[in-house]
Amino acid sequence: MPFRFPPDFVWGVATSAFQIEGAAHADGKGPSIWDRFCAVPGAIADGSNGDVACDHVKHWPADLDIAASLGVQAYRFSVSWPRVQPSGSGAWSNPGLDFYERLVDGMLERGLRPYLTLNHWDLPDALQSQGGWANRDTVHRFVEYALGVNARLGDRIAAITTHNEPWVIATLGHESGHFAPGVQSRATAMQVAHHLLLSHGLALQALRFEGCAADLGIVLNLAPVQPATEAEADRTAARLEDGKLLRWYMDPLFLGQYPQDMLAHLGADCPRVEAGDMDGIAISMDFLGINYYSRNVVSANGPWDVHSSGRPVTAMGWEVYPEGLTELLLRIHRDYAVPPMYVTENGSAFVDVLAAGRVHDPERCRYIEQHIAAVGNAMQQGVPMAGYMVWSLLDNFEWASGYAKRFGIVHVDYATQQRTLKDSALWYRDFLRQQHLQLAQGGPGFHTLEQEAVVAGV
Ligand code: GCO
Repeated sequence: MPFRFPPDFVWGVATSAFQIEGAAHADGKGPSIWDRFCAVPGAIADGSNGDVACDHVKHWPADLDIAASLGVQAYRFSVSWPRVQPSGSGAWSNPGLDFYERLVDGMLERGLRPYLTLNHWDLPDALQSQGGWANRDTVHRFVEYALGVNARLGDRIAAITTHNEPWVIATLGHESGHFAPGVQSRATAMQVAHHLLLSHGLALQALRFEGCAADLGIVLNLAPVQPATEAEADRTAARLEDGKLLRWYMDPLFLGQYPQDMLAHLGADCPRVEAGDMDGIAISMDFLGINYYSRNVVSANGPWDVHSSGRPVTAMGWEVYPEGLTELLLRIHRDYAVPPMYVTENGSAFVDVLAAGRVHDPERCRYIEQHIAAVGNAMQQGVPMAGYMVWSLLDNFEWASGYAKRFGIVHVDYATQQRTLKDSALWYRDFLRQQHLQLAQGGPGFHTLEQEAVVAGV
């Protein structure tokens, strides 16, 4: 059945500060933990860093022009904490705040609603030298930062996200050490997760107290976790992984407690939780953002072979599994009393070839189309969804993978900073135009190529 997205459904594109901005040491910006991490030999696959990236600090007007030309309503971006408050406490940087003020005003001038993320991983390095997110004091520094950003920009922001993907910061940053700050300790990772959640709740309360008019929420990276086989060992492993990825964040945010099976499993690695913390975390939100890329298949005997399902696999080695998004949204809606949800990130890296001013990326077009259909499918089954955003507007610095992995719907030539709309950007633009026409003229609703073929009896 074709699905008609409601008129107030928000379509968008997403980016983050460290991945696109560059100007890493300009205008008094302080170093972030990612600036330091990039300097560690072997940490980044191609040995690169964020010094220049997409040079967005210079090219932002053209980048916003491109976003607006696609017909999206929303632009999701993040503020670099050390650009606006170089050492993470005390003095603010006016050039830094001015930059985001121009950027936000530039969005409004182009009819783009600003969706601001406060923490997309680039913690001021000065705070890391005092323990970073493992130090409870960082919770209070974050609240102060949130209020500072709100004081300058809050009146023009549609939505504020406290943290992007706390699981990544905790687990990849502090347990496996694959991401900044590169710590390897499960106990530290769980303490970090607790502090991120607590700082989210306290910042939300403080922003509300200040009368902040923006919608307030958090963004989690979630996935359905499935056992590789029906064997008991695989099912147990999958249950634990679900506990660590999804329930460890969703339970405290929406049920006010950590999952009992995880506390038992973690034993001595459980975080220190002070009286009142759980109430501070479970503050009602205006929205929940979900970043979805693939499902997570767990085997008790080492890594699952992603090629065994016969489905397409992206350049990141991630299986293309759009029905997992429908499944995930249904489950969240069933298990928790959630506010309206957005897919705040969804996208894919493939090997792109720029030739004669074009990038033909049919896999990425299909990926986006299928995942939009998966959102529509969940909505048809009663899940209240507020919007969908593509990751990412631009090719950018893909963290430990450096610049080799391209997630953009717009190609970036890093030598010239030339931008080229890929076929997927043109597809998204045409899709959004069609949406617009449908709403104006009452067309048949959105359907995928496959659904079209069914309707046509092919
Ligand atoms: C994320 C990140 C993005 C990544 C994307 C692809 O929030 O995970 O926001 O920064 O680039 O997920 O790995």
